[in-house]
Amino acid sequence: MSNTIRIAVVGSGYVGLVAAVCFAEMGHSVVCVDNDQQKVDALQGGDCPIHEEHLPALLERYRNSKVRFTNDLAEATRGAEAIFIAVGTPQSGSGVADLSYVEAVASEIARSLTTYTVIVEKSTVPVYTNEWIRRVMERNGVAQHLFDVVSNPEFLREGTAVRDFLHPDRIVVGTDSERAAAVLSKIYEPLTTGSYYEQPSAIDGFCTSHEPPPLLLTSTKSAEIIKHASNAFLALKISFINAVSNLCEAANADVEQVARGMGMDSRIGPRFLSPGIGYGGSCFPKDVAAFRCVAEQLGVDFALLAEVENINKDQKIRFLNKVRSALWTLRGKKLGVLGLAFKGGTDDIRESPAIEIVQMLIAEGCPIKVFDPAAMERAEQVLPSSSSLQYVSDAYAASKDVDALLILTDWSEFARLDLQRLNRLMRYPIVIDGRNLYDPELMIENGITYFSVGRPTKHHVHEFAAAGAN
Ligand code: UDX
Repeated sequence: MSNTIRIAVVGSGYVGLVAAVCFAEMGHSVVCVDNDQQKVDALQGGDCPIHEEHLPALLERYRNSKVRFTNDLAEATRGAEAIFIAVGTPQSGSGVADLSYVEAVASEIARSLTTYTVIVEKSTVPVYTNEWIRRVMERNGVAQHLFDVVSNPEFLREGTAVRDFLHPDRIVVGTDSERAAAVLSKIYEPLTTGSYYEQPSAIDGFCTSHEPPPLLLTSTKSAEIIKHASNAFLALKISFINAVSNLCEAANADVEQVARGMGMDSRIGPRFLSPGIGYGGSCFPKDVAAFRCVAEQLGVDFALLAEVENINKDQKIRFLNKVRSALWTLRGKKLGVLGLAFKGGTDDIRESPAIEIVQMLIAEGCPIKVFDPAAMERAEQVLPSSSSLQYVSDAYAASKDVDALLILTDWSEFARLDLQRLNRLMRYPIVIDGRNLYDPELMIENGITYFSVGRPTKHHVHEFAAAGAN
């Protein structure tokens, strides 16, 4: 086996596209397939469809050389030593993951397999999917010796996707076949041996040639569960701290201090303990629901997961009530909103709590001026501008003459605003921060009444003095 592996990646969404360019960066030869011709044309022509650090540069470097794009699955998979399935697994009505795209791709692969190939599920899928893919292959007449199915879940986050892919905490490979394990080990060798990190052009991150990431070999089912359980656990951590933040509000304590104190326990750790307006995005809401359904189907009582979802849902309503209690009545109150993306650093608005809160506020009769550094174009497709919703060009334009300014996404630039300028612009200097981006004392020093999550509210004594100022 040469060091360069021929890889096909099916699906050019977040995971597929990032995996394709990162495999090229690791020295492999990649064909990325998507059945959306427009998307393929755009990728071939030099577009980068998602807002993601390092991706445009890597695409520029490898497009049409080490990474080719096509809509022809048979052509892409012919001669590939490994085929990564990275298509969508959307949520159906009941919460169950819809695996019809995975099934369709597996049947199509089955039609073109002629030599031994490893089929790798990269999409987040419920336990037993691996077995189903195997069955689909066999039902389509592929001999058992021609393929193995491996589960290799992806843990990248949006906004830091390329770095996460190349600097993973761990690489999980679930397989019962030694031959397939050898192919996957070879693919990830530049990372696991640390050789990638020695290259001068390597993308920076926490892995080094001295501390390369480990590769964990497991059974296929364990690998599938590792992915669902990890996402559900992180969502649980967020819901837990959100519930604690509600308790802190009731007790007049400070959740940031509580989270810091908890996070110093190395068994708990400080990450994913930031309270806010609830988790969103294309993964946590869908994966918690899918994992809950998996447990139900297997006859396991995992009611904890339903509670994680309930707390997350309530957190948005609690924030709306916070706005109401800060402003007394809502109808006709002019609001500035900072943030629409489900988190900072991305233009993704899927399951964004910010979007839901804006929708609730519009329904309450609040005219809104909104700004997001990257997500406005996408947001306009679901929330068109209207007499109650105006998209503006920066945070200060969103603050002009408003009754209160709301922070809904944790963009780092929202944490560095000129507070004196804000104070002068707003009709009433009131900031309601759903992401705890500011030190409450700093707000008071700048004459702003500040409401945040799980911390005592800081009222500025002259809070109504700045009306009409500029
Ligand atoms: C997540 C997982 O982290 C990743 O491993 C998996 O592959 C895909 O799903 P992502 O959806 O990109 O990644 O975002 P993440 O950074 O995990 O944040 C998810 C949501 O939780 C966001 O809405 C974020 O604002 C929220 N969050 C995160 C909090 O509210 N508090 C936190 O402490 C962390």
